[in-house]
Amino acid sequence: MSQFTEGEVPLSTTAERQAVTAQTGATPGRDWVIVTRGIKREYDMGGEIVRALRGVDIAIRRNEYVAIMGPSGSGKSTLMNLIGCLDTPSAGEYWLNGTLVSSMKDDELARIRNKEIGFVFQTFNLLPRATALHNVELPLVYAGMSAKQRRETAAEALDRVQLTSRMHHKPNELSGGQRQRVAIARALVNKPSILLADEPTGNLDSQTSQEIMKVFESLADQGQTVIMVTHEQDIAAHARRVVALHDGQVSSDTRRERFLEEHASAIVAKGGVVG
Ligand SMILES: Nc1ncnc2c1ncn2[C@@H]1O[C@H](COP(=O)(O)OP(=O)(O)O)[C@@H](O)[C@H]1O
Ligand SMILES: [Mg+2]
Repeated sequence: MSQFTEGEVPLSTTAERQAVTAQTGATPGRDWVIVTRGIKREYDMGGEIVRALRGVDIAIRRNEYVAIMGPSGSGKSTLMNLIGCLDTPSAGEYWLNGTLVSSMKDDELARIRNKEIGFVFQTFNLLPRATALHNVELPLVYAGMSAKQRRETAAEALDRVQLTSRMHHKPNELSGGQRQRVAIARALVNKPSILLADEPTGNLDSQTSQEIMKVFESLADQGQTVIMVTHEQDIAAHARRVVALHDGQVSSDTRRERFLEEHASAIVAKGGVVG
C-alpha cells in the first residue's frame, strides 16, 4: 500500500527548486537532499575539451523518486558519477544533505559516498561465489558490525526486496530480476540517504523490468529517495518526476503525469507503463 495518495507525493515545485538553486553559496535547507548549482564537467582529451555537463541546476527533496533521462552521450553517467560522489565537477556547487561536496578531497568524498549513497548498476556487480546473503552483508564488514548483527541486517534488506526465500542461493542460481533485487538489497543495507541506479533495467527483459520498477515504487513509498538514470522513456515514466538531459544541460524537469501526457504515443508504442 502506498503511504501517499497520488496528490500527496512530496514533490518539490519548480518555484521551490529555482529558489534553492539560484542562491549561490547558501547552504540549502535540511529537506533538500541534492542541490547542484551550475555544475560543469569537462574532459580534456589531449587538447580537445569535451563539455559533458554545461551548467546543471538540479534540486531534489528527501523522498522524491526522480528519473534522469536522456539519449546516449547527453551526460547522464557523468551526472550520476558526480551525484554519487565518484567524481567532482570542473565548476559549480554540489550540496549533498547540506554539505558542500564539490570541493572535497578524495578521501572525504569516499567517506560521504559510503555513508550516503547506495548504488545499483545495469550489470548487478555481485560476487559470483557468494550467496545472496553474503553479497548483501559485504558492505557491513567495512562498517565494523558483529557477524550476527551483519546477518540480521542483511536478511532485513533482502526481506525489503522480497527475497528471503532465496537468500542462501548464489547469483547463478537466481534469475536476472532476482540478481538485481540482491543488488538493490546490498545498496540499501547501509541505509543510504539516496538510492542511485544507473540503467537498472538495461540487462533485463521488459517483464522483469516491470518487476524491478515495482521494487523501486515500494521503496519510494517507504520514504527512500530514489534517483534512476535511464535512456528509456517507458522506464523513466515510472518515476514521479523526470529530469531530461540534452547535450549536458537540463532540457525539462516535469512531474510524471505531465511527462506521460507529453510522451504518451512513444510509451504506448513500447507497451505502456504496466503496473
Ligand atoms: N572519461 C571521459 N573522458 C572523456 N570524455 C568522456 C568521459 N566520460 C564521458 N565522456 C564524454 O562526455 C559526454 C557525456 O557522456 P556520458 O556522461 O557517458 O553520457 P550518457 O551516460 O548520457 O551516455 C560524451 O560526449 C562522452 O563521450
Ligand atoms: Mg551512460
